[in-house]
Amino acid sequence: MIPICRLDDLPEGESVRIDTTPPIAVFNADGELYAIDDTCTHQDASLSEGWLEGCLVECPLHAASFDLRTGQPTCLPARRAVRTHHVTVDDGVVYVHVAAQEGTAA
Ligand code: FES
Repeated sequence: MIPICRLDDLPEGESVRIDTTPPIAVFNADGELYAIDDTCTHQDASLSEGWLEGCLVECPLHAASFDLRTGQPTCLPARRAVRTHHVTVDDGVVYVHVAAQEGTAA
């Protein structure tokens, strides 16, 4: 579980990037918090720098779109999903519970 920031510091429509390995992006989409791997599965763009529209984030490089709820791409050129991570808020602090990578223990 990684502390990210104060909830007050992540207003609606904003995102924050965490320099973990791999990096993770946390979004406040209309008041709902989502965390996904930050790196687009098409190439190496940072999704935290993309455009947020509802529960979708559009990659800033070639405009693939990902559903923050599932990590699935909703259009080309991305074909593979990004990992999603559980987000909680405790005492006003946002935490990300990093999902296990494929082939590793949780
Ligand atoms: S790097 Fe994201 S769509 Fe190409």
